[in-house]
Parts: sequence; C-alpha cells; structure tokens
Amino acid sequence: MAQEISRSQHLFAAADYLDEHRAPQTEGCRIVITGKGGVGKTTTTALLANIFAEMKKNVLTVDEDPQQNLAFSLGLPMDQAETLVPVSKNLEYIEEKTGARPGQGWGAMLRINPDVSDVVSRFGLHIAENINLLVIGSVIQAAAGCLCPENALLDSIVRYIRLRNGEIILMDTQAGVEHFGRALAEGFQHAIILTEPGFNSVQVALHSARLAKDLNIPGIHLVVNRCRSQADITKVTGYLRDTPFSSITHLPFDEQVMATEPNVAGLAQQSTPYVDGVRKLAAMLLSAG
Ligand SMILES: Nc1ncnc2c1ncn2[C@@H]1O[C@H](COP(=O)(O)OP(=O)(O)OP(=O)(O)O)[C@@H](O)[C@H]1O
Ligand SMILES: [Mg+2]
Repeated sequence: MAQEISRSQHLFAAADYLDEHRAPQTEGCRIVITGKGGVGKTTTTALLANIFAEMKKNVLTVDEDPQQNLAFSLGLPMDQAETLVPVSKNLEYIEEKTGARPGQGWGAMLRINPDVSDVVSRFGLHIAENINLLVIGSVIQAAAGCLCPENALLDSIVRYIRLRNGEIILMDTQAGVEHFGRALAEGFQHAIILTEPGFNSVQVALHSARLAKDLNIPGIHLVVNRCRSQADITKVTGYLRDTPFSSITHLPFDEQVMATEPNVAGLAQQSTPYVDGVRKLAAMLLSAG
C-alpha cells in the first residue's frame, strides 16, 4: 500500500517496503546489463531479447539509459522510436503516482512506494512477437540517494518489474556503475557485465562486479566483447584475479553487426561469430535459472 510520508522519513519507509516485497520469484529471469560506455550493452541486450523471443520466451526489455537507444537496436522504426518519452520524463504520471511534480520544493509530501503495476500496460510498447519494451530512463542525481519524485517513481518501477513472473526481463543500463546503488539489485538473478579488451573498460567491469557481489546478485557474468585476437583474450585474462565472475564469455568483433547497426533484429536468425556467442550466453543464462 502506498504510504505518504515526509522526505525525512523515507529511509524507514523504504526499508518497510523492501521487507513487504522480498518474496522470491518462482518463474522468469531478471538480467541487468551493465558496463563502460560503448562496450556493446544495448546491442547485446537487443540480440538476447530476439534470441529468447525465438525460443518462445516472453521478454520485457527495459531501457534505463537516458539516451534511450534500445528501441533502435530492437528495430523500432526511427520515426516511432524518436517519439518515445521515458517514464522518468512523464510529469503527469510522476505526479499521479508520487503526489509531487519534479522540481517541487522540499516541503511537498511524496508517496515513495506508489502502486506502479500499470506501468507496463500503460507505457510498454509491443516490438515484435514475445518482445515488449519499457523505456524508463534515468535521473541525473544531484546528490547520492536524492529523493526527488522521479527517483521515487523509478525505484518503485524497478521493484515492481522484478516482481513480474513468467517473463525474462532484460534491463539495459546507462554506462557506468551508479545505477547499482539504487533499487536495482534485489531480485535480479544475473548481472551481465560487458567490457572491451582494454584496461579502463576492464576496471569498470571489475568495479561493477564488486558492486553486484555486494548486492548479492547470484550470477555475475563477464562478457568480453569485440575481441579481435587471442592476444585480446590473453590481455583481459591478465587483468582478472580473484574476481567474482560466475562465467566469462568472449565475443568476437563482427563486421555483420557493424553492417546492420543499430538494428540487430535481423541478426538473430543468422549464424555469425558474435550471434553464435550470444546464443550460447542465452542458453547458459536459461540453464542457470
Ligand atoms: N561484437 C561486435 N562487433 C562489432 N561491432 C559491435 C559489436 N558489439 C557492439 N558493436 C558496435 O559497437 C557500438 C556500440 O555498441 P552499443 O551501442 O551496443 O554499446 P553500449 O555499451 O550500449 O553504448 P552506450 O554506453 O553508449 O549505451 C555499436 O556501433 C555496435 O554496433
Ligand atoms: Mg547503450
């Protein structure tokens, strides 16, 4: 039930809310995809969605990146994708649910755990058979843990999403690690952490992996994307010591991805080195549960 509280009380209310909703999921699989900028998060999310959909699984893709380019990668026509408004920018919905409009003063009462169970039916977009997309966007936080109406709503949406049964949920995130500090963690079974074969990218991946481990995400999978040689693989392996990864996958650089980018919808039926690698990753995730 939604609670109306002042902002100074929000931490206690949030803890109560988590206790109420901690029930484990019996069906479905929730996967968050993360990593440094440009490593292939959106491409891999969209391809995984298509591969799962081909296996007749119901897939809900969630775009948490304010750049909101998952729609393009899933093959939504440009003119439609460009008109999508992320839920984090939908002022009416934010006000309807939290009781406060973004930018309102600190005196406003804020409902921090609103019922957002209508979010997918109202804002989810049917992309293709078995694939839906929900663009939630993100909030640039002025201070860590800022409790503005947008964040209160997004946290509720993420908590709600992980309570949905019978679906594979794939959440594409913005570059970096900030999102791990929020409501994201609990209820996600897998974190796919992408990296390129480069030092900086691997350091971001290692940081993400530590955060994912602290948040008790059971499956933490490293995906080294755009490998061009055995030397690339050896280099990354040299950076990995005492890491918490449940699995490590190497995906090759694939000209075919560049030829059709950003749209990967047509790739799922093909057999290319990258697509075959992502197919194996999909099978491994499903078998892990
Ligand atoms: N295995 C691959 N082979 C060739 N090109 C690839 C491969 N994986 C991704 N790419 C290309 O790399 C570019 C970046 O990919 P993508 O947009 O998926 O990265 P991202 O991590 O989502 O980026 P951002 O951090 O900006 O959201 C795209 O042009 C994509 O087509
Ligand atoms: Mg992206």
